[in-house]
This record gives sequence, C-alpha cells and structure tokens, in this order.
Amino acid sequence: MTLVGGGPGEWDLLTIRGLRALQAADVILTDHLGPAEQLAEFVDVGGKEIIDVAKLPYGKQVAQERINQLLVEHALGGRKVVRLKGGDPYVFGRGYEELAACDAAGVTCTVVPGVTSAISVPAAAGIPVTERGVNHAFTVVSGHLPPGHPKSLVDWGALARTGGTIVVVMGVRNVRAIAQSLVDAGLAASTPAAAVQDGETARQKVVGGTLGSLADDMERAGISSPAVYVIGEVAARARA
Ligand SMILES: C[S@@+](CC[C@H](N)C(=O)[O-])C[C@H]1O[C@@H](n2cnc3c(N)ncnc32)[C@H](O)[C@@H]1O
Repeated sequence: MTLVGGGPGEWDLLTIRGLRALQAADVILTDHLGPAEQLAEFVDVGGKEIIDVAKLPYGKQVAQERINQLLVEHALGGRKVVRLKGGDPYVFGRGYEELAACDAAGVTCTVVPGVTSAISVPAAAGIPVTERGVNHAFTVVSGHLPPGHPKSLVDWGALARTGGTIVVVMGVRNVRAIAQSLVDAGLAASTPAAAVQDGETARQKVVGGTLGSLADDMERAGISSPAVYVIGEVAARARA
C-alpha cells in the first residue's frame, strides 16, 4: 500500500514518485482535498478501481475505520493500492493512522510525501513562511478546536510568544477566538495577518490585514474552508 501526498489544489504539485505510484495502482482511494477530480488528466484510469472515500456514508470516526479496512482488504487481495491525500499525508492528514492499520494487518506501507498546504498555500499568495532577518521559526497549528476547548492540545499563549510565523489550518470557524487569544497573550493586534482560500486553484482568494482585523476581514471577504491563515510579519507580503 502506498500513501501518496497529492499537494493542494491543482494536480501538478504532485511529486514524480507519487505520480508513478498512481500510474502503477490497481485501486486508488481518494478524498476531497487531494487532486481526485483531475485524476483522469494525469493517470490512465482505465482498468483501475477508484474509490471516493469522502463519500462513504458513515460518521467521521467509523469512516476512518472503514477506510483503513478497505486499504487492508484490497492490499491483502493482492492489488496495488494507493491512498491519495491532499497536501502531505503526515500533516494533519491521518496518514499515520492508515499506516498503523496496514502494519497491524501485516501489509507493507510506504509513504510518498506531498507538498503541504501549510507552506505552499501561503506561498501561492506571495507569503514566505520564513524570511531572513524577519523570523527564525514558523509553527503550523490546527485551529479545528478553539482556545480553551477541553480537548485542545495547543498552548496558544506560548504560540503568541514564539516571535515566528503562525500558520493556522482548519481554523476558519474559530478565527475570532484564536485571534483574540493570541492578542490576550500579548501578540500585538497590529501584527500582519492574511488568509488564503482554495490556494493553488483558479478560485484562490486572498485577504490581508492585521491580527486585530483578521476575523472581520475574513468574514467580509466570505473566506470559507479550505483556507489557511498566516499571522506574523511575513503576512504583510500577501498579494491578492
Ligand atoms: C485535514 S487538513 C489536511 C492538510 C494536508 N494534509 C496538507 O498537508 O496540506 C485540511 C486543511 O488544510 C488546508 N488546506 C488544504 N488544501 C488547501 C487549499 N487548497 N487552500 C487552502 N487551504 C488548504 C485547510 O486549512 C484545510 O482545512
């Protein structure tokens, strides 16, 4: 079984190794953020079984178990299986869960890294996550839970003090609470901030401002998921 990172947006951010794995596959399991809809543009899909696991009719948790089961069943049936994901499989992509399920079933799994949205989507809007003389760090953080949520594993106060770039993925819904908690922890409301929706696609939308205005800016521009936002001096480089 091969886990392939498909990159964000247009399919040509896929690596050559990932492309080769897809060309050799008998079965490809896709989901909504990978380059699934464009698959036929770069792979001869004739004779391959394509399973869109984003459409599995189950709740979230069960669906992941079902995906693991499908990967293992097909691989044990002697078929070359590729699991195509958006971005990089190991960046908030549940890649490790799928690899562990394969390991547990005695199925060999290899991982083909992908171009992660955390770096490439800001880049698509002109934002370098690092810049010499400006910062010495960047942090990628999931914003799927708001600060203070009992299940949150993020120390937002510590993040406010890193002095580096903060890249938030899966954080559209919680942007107001996240921005407020960073300001409360001492990060200046005047810190540049920018959001990028549908990066690396023809629909790409960029909005720039400051940490203090980010939630309002995103709301006004109608920014919705999938989107990444960047907080830090480098966000001032954003280009629409
Ligand atoms: C479940 S995470 C998967 C991340 C993926 N593994 C990666 O490395 O890019 C999904 C989040 O990635 C971000 N994302 C993925 N593709 C994107 C795109 N084309 N434009 C903007 N954000 C994107 C969004 O924050 C989205 O909510």
